[in-house]
Amino acid sequence: YDMEKKPDHSVFITTKIDEEAKKILKDANFDVHEWTAPEPIPKNNLIRELEGKDALFCTLNDKVDDEVLSKVGTKLKVIATMSVGYDHLSLKDIKTRNIKIGYTPGILTEATAELTLALLLATSRRLFEANNAVKNGEWHAWAPYWMCGPGIKGSTIGIVGLGRIGQQVARLIKPFNPKSIIFYSRSLKEVQSKILNLVQVDFETLLKDSDFIILTCALTDETKNLFNDKAFSKMKKNAVFINTSRGGIVDQGALVKALKSNLIFGAGLDVMTPEPLPLNHELLQLKNCVILPHIGSAAIQTRQEMAKITVQNIIAAIKDEPMPSELIV
Ligand code: DGY
Repeated sequence: YDMEKKPDHSVFITTKIDEEAKKILKDANFDVHEWTAPEPIPKNNLIRELEGKDALFCTLNDKVDDEVLSKVGTKLKVIATMSVGYDHLSLKDIKTRNIKIGYTPGILTEATAELTLALLLATSRRLFEANNAVKNGEWHAWAPYWMCGPGIKGSTIGIVGLGRIGQQVARLIKPFNPKSIIFYSRSLKEVQSKILNLVQVDFETLLKDSDFIILTCALTDETKNLFNDKAFSKMKKNAVFINTSRGGIVDQGALVKALKSNLIFGAGLDVMTPEPLPLNHELLQLKNCVILPHIGSAAIQTRQEMAKITVQNIIAAIKDEPMPSELIV
């Protein structure tokens, strides 16, 4: 036993990950500590567990802010999140402490775009409502206008944010033959627009012209509550609103009002505030709202790959080697 080499480094993982990813850490001589409860780790526990560790493997459930960082000491060298989104990380406070950041862009693009399409179709064609109707004995006969919803063919698709996921959504939706795909982005996206044959428009035009509005942008100070009362009031009555990015981009009270008063046709949400949504929340009562539990990237291979890149980010950072996916800010 004495002969056994003592681990050189230590990592705290805030969630259960597969053995394969953990083995990569152990093989690289890491002492692995983990939080295994299904609920996110409370802040105080995170602070306690992180003390004296070299690395943090976290998820979007874990808010890493000045309070956490100022209490865990100075040993922490890298924070790697198993996500492409990083709105849960306080970048400024991490960077001033010279802590490296790892994340997982790219790997989950296809899986998330797939789920976005699935959610869009489930919302517009009312799949869950229809399925419930079957189970509740409400299916009397084939009827011309029963359980109808807007089709994609000939429609205008509006994408908010034309990053990796937004572009992939555009590619996937094209074979459904929309009339046009427009997008809103704060930066000029000439190359992408040309290659994909998309039209960049201002926010007002996107709201006014779109039959489907799909949110794929990141949550930032600029996009927080971008979809408020005013935005919903400008949308078409038949508009289908899809969000697979972050709940904070939507003023949820405004969305509830819009759905209740049929200001828009329906909404499909994979993300919301808070997550999980309380069981008595109004959104869960609305027939024209489809709610999923933040499963955008939940393709088996994708999640395995995300965990692997996250541990590789940690190992590379600790060894002072180039990280596979470092977030440079
Ligand atoms: C992300 O990666 O940011 C998603 O929300 C989870 O895959």
